[in-house]
Amino acid sequence: MNVHDRPDDAPGPETNADLVLNDTKTQLPVRAGTLGPNVVDVSRLYRDTGCFTYDPGFTSTANCVSRITYIDGDHGTLLYRGYPIDQLADHSNFLEVCHLLLYGDLPTKDAANTFRHTITRHTMLHEQMTRFFTGFRRDAHPMAIMVGVVGALSAFYHDSTDISDPEQRAVASHRMIAKMPTIAAMTYKYSLGQPFIYPRNDFDYTANFLQMCFAIPCEPYLGNPVMTKALDRIFILHADHEQNASTSTVRLAGSSGANPFACVAAGIACLWGPAHGGANEAALNMLAEIGSVDRIPEFIAKAKDKNSGFRLMGFGHRVYKNYDPRAKVMQQTCHEVLDTIGTRNEPLLEVAMELERIALQDEYFIEKKLYPNIDFYSGITLRAMGFPVSMFTVLFAVARTVGWIAQWKEMIEDPEQRIGRPRQLYMGATERQFVPMDERV
Ligand code: SDX
Repeated sequence: MNVHDRPDDAPGPETNADLVLNDTKTQLPVRAGTLGPNVVDVSRLYRDTGCFTYDPGFTSTANCVSRITYIDGDHGTLLYRGYPIDQLADHSNFLEVCHLLLYGDLPTKDAANTFRHTITRHTMLHEQMTRFFTGFRRDAHPMAIMVGVVGALSAFYHDSTDISDPEQRAVASHRMIAKMPTIAAMTYKYSLGQPFIYPRNDFDYTANFLQMCFAIPCEPYLGNPVMTKALDRIFILHADHEQNASTSTVRLAGSSGANPFACVAAGIACLWGPAHGGANEAALNMLAEIGSVDRIPEFIAKAKDKNSGFRLMGFGHRVYKNYDPRAKVMQQTCHEVLDTIGTRNEPLLEVAMELERIALQDEYFIEKKLYPNIDFYSGITLRAMGFPVSMFTVLFAVARTVGWIAQWKEMIEDPEQRIGRPRQLYMGATERQFVPMDERV
C-alpha cells in the first residue's frame, strides 16, 4: 500500500492510500487526528474490493472518532480532554474531572457548584432496590452483585431510558455517576452483614462514598482526609482510558440503542476480567502468593515460561509500551497511604517494589516492554485503606463509570456512528446436505 499526497483538486482528507488487490487498485482515504497515528478509512474496502480487514483484539483498528482521552503508549502520555493525568491528579478533584470528561472543559466555579448539586441530589437509590441485595448470597463476589443491581436500574428509572432525548440522556448520565458509589457501598455493607448507610448531602463525592462504606449507625463517622484525598486521586486515575475493553463494550451495547444503565452493566461485566479491571485483585493475590522477596525469581521464571500460562498481574499493557503514567502516581499514593496508617513495612509493598525492580532489569520484560500498570500498586493501596480484595474492581468500576458514560454520550451524538457489527474470517464447513439419523456414522 502506498500513501501519497492527495491530488490538489480532490476534496476530502489530506492523503489517500493506494491498495492494490487482485490487480485492482483502490484508493482509501487517510485521516489525520489532532494527535496520534493517522487512520486508513477502510469503511468502503469491502464494497470496493470484496475483502474484509482482519485484526483480532483490534490492535491496529480505530472504531470511532473521539475527543475525550488520548494515550501515547510509547511516551507514557495520558490526557483527559488535553490535560495531563499527573496535573489533574495533583491539582483537581474527581467530580471536577467528571465534568471535564462529560462536557469537555474544566468547570467554572458556578458550573462546578451546579454540577456538584446535581450529582449530590441523585445519590439516593430507589428504596425498593435494596431488596435486590437480599437475593444474593452474602459471599457473592461484589462484581456479580454490581452487574445485577446496575442492570436493574433500568427497571426503576424508566423516565431516563429514551436515548433519543438529550434531557433523558443527561439525567441518566447524572444518575449513573451519582448512584454507582451508593450501590458499591451497599454491595460492601451487604457482604459484611451490616446495615446500608445512606448518602449524606453535606459530604463531597468521595468522602460520601467512604462514609457509606465505613460508617456504622452506632457511632459518629469521623473519616480521614488523607484517605479521602488518596481515593479521590485513585478515582481520577481510573476515570477513563480511551477505547479499552470495557469502554468498547459500553459503546457496542449502546450502538444498538440499549439504555445507558444496561450498557454500563455490560461494561462492569467486561471490566471484571483479570486481564482488564480484575487485574488489581489478581495482582494483590499474586503478591500474597509470592509472599516474600526470596520467592520472586521463581515467579519471574514462571512468567517467562509460555507453558505455565502464568502472567505477572499488574504488568504489561496493550497500549503502554513504556511506563503507565498512572502507575507512577499510584505508587506515590501507595506510599502516602501506608505512611499515614503507619504500615510502611507492609510485606507486600516490599515484595511489590522488589518485583518491580527485578522485572524492569530483566531482558524478557525489557524486550516485551512489560512495565507495571495502574493495577500493580492499586491493590496494596486499597487494602491498606481497609477494602477487601474482592472490592478492588468495584472501586475501579465506580471511577470508570464517568468514562463509560462520557464515551457512550459521545457515541450517541456522533453522526458517523451506527450499530456495531464486525465481520469475520470464516474457516468452518462449506455447505453440506442434512444427514438423517440412521445414516450417520
Ligand atoms: C487494564 O486497555 C486499557 O486501557 C486497560 C486499562 C484501563 O485503564 O482500562 O489500562 C486497565 O486493564 C490494565 C491491564 C491490567 N491487566 C493485567 O495486569 C494482566 C496482566 N497483563 C497481561 O494479561 C497483558 O499484558 C495485557 C492483557 C494487559 C495486554 O495484553 P496484549 O497487549 O494483548 O499483549 P499480549 O498478551 O499479546 O502480550 C505480548 C507478549 C506475550 O508474549 P509473546 O506471545 O509475544 O511471546 O508479552 C507477554 C505475552 O506472553 N506478556 C506477559 C505479560 N503481559 C504480556 N508475560 C508475563 N506477564 C505479563 N503480565
